[in-house]
Amino acid sequence: MQHFVSLQDLTRQELENLLDAAEQRSTTPLAQQSATLQGISIASLFYEPSTRTRVSFELAAKHLGAHFVDINPALSSNVKGETVWDTVATLQAMGISQFIVRTAQAGLPRQLAQKVASGVSVINAGEADIAHPSQGLLDLMTVRQLKGDLDKLSIAIVGDIAHSRVARSFYAGAMLLGCKDIRLIAPDAWQVSPEHFPSATLSDSLIPAIEDVDIIMALRIQRERLDSGEIPDIETYRARYSITEERLQRAHPDTLVMHPGPMNRNVEISDAVADGPQSVIFRQVRAGVPARMAILSAVSGH
Ligand code: CP
Repeated sequence: MQHFVSLQDLTRQELENLLDAAEQRSTTPLAQQSATLQGISIASLFYEPSTRTRVSFELAAKHLGAHFVDINPALSSNVKGETVWDTVATLQAMGISQFIVRTAQAGLPRQLAQKVASGVSVINAGEADIAHPSQGLLDLMTVRQLKGDLDKLSIAIVGDIAHSRVARSFYAGAMLLGCKDIRLIAPDAWQVSPEHFPSATLSDSLIPAIEDVDIIMALRIQRERLDSGEIPDIETYRARYSITEERLQRAHPDTLVMHPGPMNRNVEISDAVADGPQSVIFRQVRAGVPARMAILSAVSGH
């Protein structure tokens, strides 16, 4: 695997290998893990904001012994008109061999992957509303570690499905792993066309859809991707879709609650649920480092 652009590019075996590698790294003390990227130089290029993804890729690269350079587009020659490709080509000429890219431009990670030299890798760290495959990997890892094989699970994804790259990547990975019951719950304006999620069940009602699920994944409202006509009335959204303690009581006591972050607290999810015993939100964050260590190792051939 030279690049990591979409979970849809992987076979089931490749995805399971990545999950196995990530899980092994999550349970092995760092001091006992080999620095497989010693001498390799990695750059992150984030054209959209990030806390979790950018920092966990940086930690992952450093834990593996790589040199890591974070390019801040606002302080780079990007502001003087340099194209993304010229920036990548320039850094490639300096010896950078892995590029971790976040962008609002659909298709950019794959275009870069097609242009870089052989031996140079492009890793998609979030692409418009298209894909967020490293988030998908850490979400699948969290589900698999806590609930077992996905082919036996029922999973509800709630909220702004239409603009969510997190939902798309999770769905792609869950389908590869044989999941048979994914329910997408959203107001009509944010529901998706069935052809994009052909095996999912679509609904605009939270109850009863969450009553018998193993996992509820609340999504962030993607304000930066909404047209002015799509901005929701927050009170209406909260009243129908917010994951609150009262609503969670309608599900099983062992139903787990996920959110990719960053959260709009008390809109998508209440404080009590986000910080409560059924929440695994910070466990998802923790999984981000070993999941990204597995990705960086895999694209370098380890
Ligand atoms: N989940 C996620 O992508 O978070 P960041 O935007 O903080 O990286």
